[in-house]
Amino acid sequence: MAILKIARMGHPVLIQRCAPVPDPGAPEIRRLVADMIETMEDAPGVGLAAPQVYVPLRLFVFRIPDGRAGEDPLDTPVGTSVLINPEVELLTDERVLYWEGCLSIPGLRAAVPRAPRIRYRGVDCDGVPTEREVSGFHADVIQHEYDHLDGILYPMRMQDFSLFGFTEELAAAAVRRESQRERTQA
Ligand code: NI
Repeated sequence: MAILKIARMGHPVLIQRCAPVPDPGAPEIRRLVADMIETMEDAPGVGLAAPQVYVPLRLFVFRIPDGRAGEDPLDTPVGTSVLINPEVELLTDERVLYWEGCLSIPGLRAAVPRAPRIRYRGVDCDGVPTEREVSGFHADVIQHEYDHLDGILYPMRMQDFSLFGFTEELAAAAVRRESQRERTQA
């Protein structure tokens, strides 16, 4: 296994439509998936799509940690998984803002409008299918990773660029707002 180099925004591999994986069980695909999982966990991140490691194929790895999933019963945690040749169906016209980062856009975060409920399906390297209906953070992660396969980065989904900033500055601003609120309540 190996930790792979991650492409950053500006590299053309990130803005192209990726090709379907012809044989999910091929040895080179299994090796790629194992390396992508190691790379995602090292980063650390909750998702990594093949074009982010310079491979323009339709697959991504992801995980929904217990502590990140919300209270909605469909916002289900899952362990580290791969989804090959995935399909995503948005189940509502509603859009909710989710704070996202991306390993290809290091140091920045933004509030991105996403469907709060989706259905998705795909297979793993053994051809075993997964199909789930999910909501909240889980649905957000899948939409973000799926977008990578169509060459879409989260800034291309944004509507309000005042909700875009460096992670450190946004965290500092949140702390200032919190202490302001405590002073107001005192
Ligand atoms: Ni990303």
